[in-house]
Amino acid sequence: MAMARSSSLVLVAFALLCCYASTVSSQGNSSDGFLSCLTASIPRQLVFTPSSPSFTPLLKSSIRNPKFFTPSTVRPLYIITPTNASHVQAAVLCGRRSGLRIRVRSGGHDYEGLSYRSVRAESFAVLDLSSLRAVRVDAQAATAWVDSGAQLGELYYAIGKASGVLGFPGGLCPTVGVGGHFSGGGFGMLLRKYGMAIDNVIDAVLVDAKGRLLNKNTMGSDVFWALRGGGGESFGVVVSWQVKLLPVPPKVTVFNVPVTASQGAADLVTRWQQVAPALPEDLIIRVVVQQKTANFQSLFLGTCDALLPVMSSRFPELRFNRSDCREMTWIQSVPYIYLGSASTVEDLLNRTTAESVFSSGYKATSDYVRQAIPRDAWASIFAKLAQPNAGLMILDPYGGQIAAVPESATPYPHRAGVLYNIQYMNFWSMASGDGAVQTRWIREFYAFMAPFVSSNPREAYFNYRDLDLGENVVVGNVSSYQAGMVWGQKYFKGNYQRLAMAKGQIDPDDYFRNEQSIPPFANSR
Ligand SMILES: Cc1cc2nc3c(=O)[nH]c(=O)nc-3n(C[C@H](O)[C@H](O)[C@H](O)COP(=O)(O)OP(=O)(O)OC[C@H]3O[C@@H](n4cnc5c(N)ncnc54)[C@H](O)[C@@H]3O)c2cc1C
Ligand SMILES: *[C@@H]1O[C@H](CO)[C@@H](O)[C@H](O)[C@H]1NC(C)=O
Ligand SMILES: *[C@@H]1O[C@H](CO)[C@@H](O)[C@H](O)[C@H]1NC(C)=O
Ligand SMILES: *[C@@H]1O[C@H](CO)[C@@H](O)[C@H](O)[C@H]1NC(C)=O
Ligand SMILES: *[C@@H]1O[C@H](CO)[C@@H](O)[C@H](O)[C@H]1NC(C)=O
Ligand SMILES: *[C@@H]1O[C@H](CO)[C@@H](O)[C@H](O)[C@H]1NC(C)=O
Repeated sequence: MAMARSSSLVLVAFALLCCYASTVSSQGNSSDGFLSCLTASIPRQLVFTPSSPSFTPLLKSSIRNPKFFTPSTVRPLYIITPTNASHVQAAVLCGRRSGLRIRVRSGGHDYEGLSYRSVRAESFAVLDLSSLRAVRVDAQAATAWVDSGAQLGELYYAIGKASGVLGFPGGLCPTVGVGGHFSGGGFGMLLRKYGMAIDNVIDAVLVDAKGRLLNKNTMGSDVFWALRGGGGESFGVVVSWQVKLLPVPPKVTVFNVPVTASQGAADLVTRWQQVAPALPEDLIIRVVVQQKTANFQSLFLGTCDALLPVMSSRFPELRFNRSDCREMTWIQSVPYIYLGSASTVEDLLNRTTAESVFSSGYKATSDYVRQAIPRDAWASIFAKLAQPNAGLMILDPYGGQIAAVPESATPYPHRAGVLYNIQYMNFWSMASGDGAVQTRWIREFYAFMAPFVSSNPREAYFNYRDLDLGENVVVGNVSSYQAGMVWGQKYFKGNYQRLAMAKGQIDPDDYFRNEQSIPPFANSR
């Protein structure tokens, strides 16, 4: 269906391409030129300038980290809300013609706010895809097309409506945008059974830096490889994605078992490191460690009756019993696990950001663990998590399907041999400070963890973006390949160079760029 739509759009692209090609050399940097260029192809009501009363509410609408919504934040000159891929094409062509860059925003959950702010004070317009969010499920074929502006909850909801026995392996938070999430990888409670979101992407529609509308067959295999996990903003604007849907049983089991330090949390987490990555693929047990408590959170693709013997043979130390089981459908488990037991499946459709989200800023970063951390180190970790202004740790166990995919099959390289991923987060009240203390805590904790986690490179997850890992350096109007290696090899290991080569093919001028976008290899200086 998306392809039928596409063919007519290609004509629009060519029409725009002509005028772009004939005028590009005579046009300088003119943001007014950008607006007048847009009027030919985008309805006026989809273009917002700072003088529009809707501009600030629209800008704020999907901001998740309010530390990037302050008076000193560098904001966009314009926001455009395309309702059709042709608008995306027009915005790219007009942007190039007038020398104005574009930042793409799907769900706005970027940890460093790079979809709507510029660190270096470079002018830009935001292409906000929140109105491009159709989900079309084909339950018969077990596939779906999902537009980038859909939130994960809308994708899961549509799957659940179409079938009680199909699911999809993506992140837990329902308001995360498909566009950024798939661009950076994407994992959640089905990671051990079905791997990453990108492992299950089978086609994509991309608007490239020339304004062309491309699919898997026309973009080239290196670019199609790159946009499945190589990070958002680098290769163009992904308008929609086709995904493979995967079987889930009619009934799944969920549990959450909290264990405090005095109940032996450090012993249990030490043991969990060996147990969790080796469990059957139908079972994931992750751990959220906060203050003095380790919460063992689980999804099992089966009934409580089937789960009990697995738990007593594999992880008797948790003393799990029938009263811990909650049986439900897979789609019910999604809001239950992330939004709590009082939530409903309809809550997956709610796109409104709670006002409380705007009151606490955060800083996050990540690690991968390849060798179990010793018991005495866990004792120190628990002590640090109990300090004033401390943050929390989320441990997602690997093994299973996520580890079965070769490191170079997708840009996401953290596969076989990884025991678990760590996410560190620390929050603070925006009313009471700028987060300096909490940010320092997380940096010190990250330094403390160095001996226990992966090294050479110290691996990190792109979707838990952290600018402390490094930023691009622009040399001669193009991001430097060499400088990008500093952060690029942490996120992508040996895949960084192939990503830079794909970037060199699709966007050699580095039109699409931000502080951590893939630099073009061909043009590296
Ligand atoms: C509360 C919360 C919970 C999370 N939980 C999980 C989780 O369970 N699992 C997990 O893997 N991750 C999780 N994440 C991380 C999340 O996957 C990333 O932050 C992701 O990049 C967000 O996508 P977005 O579209 O919402 O963000 P955006 O801020 O819109 O985009 C992120 C980046 O991608 C670019 N981009 C966005 N859309 C496009 C597009 N269509 N084409 C090209 N580039 C694009 C942006 O320019 C930006 O650079 C979570 C984040 C938050 C804030
Ligand atoms: C998008 O634009 C194309 C070309 O102008 C048009 O044929 C198509 O109907 C539009 N689609 C939607 C959903 O508006
Ligand atoms: C820098 O790159 C942008 C985007 O490709 C382009 O519009 C601009 O003209 C370039 N500037 C210079 C000075 O080359
Ligand atoms: C365009 O010009 C404006 C005003 O002169 C300037 O602030 C801005 O940085 C320029 N933008 C680009 C992309 O060079
Ligand atoms: C099951 O576990 C719960 C809490 O973990 C505990 O309160 C209860 O006594 C246990 N029941 C049995 C039969 O062991
Ligand atoms: C949607 O979520 C917001 C923020 O959490 C909440 O205030 C609102 O009541 C929710 N709306 C519905 C219809 O549930």
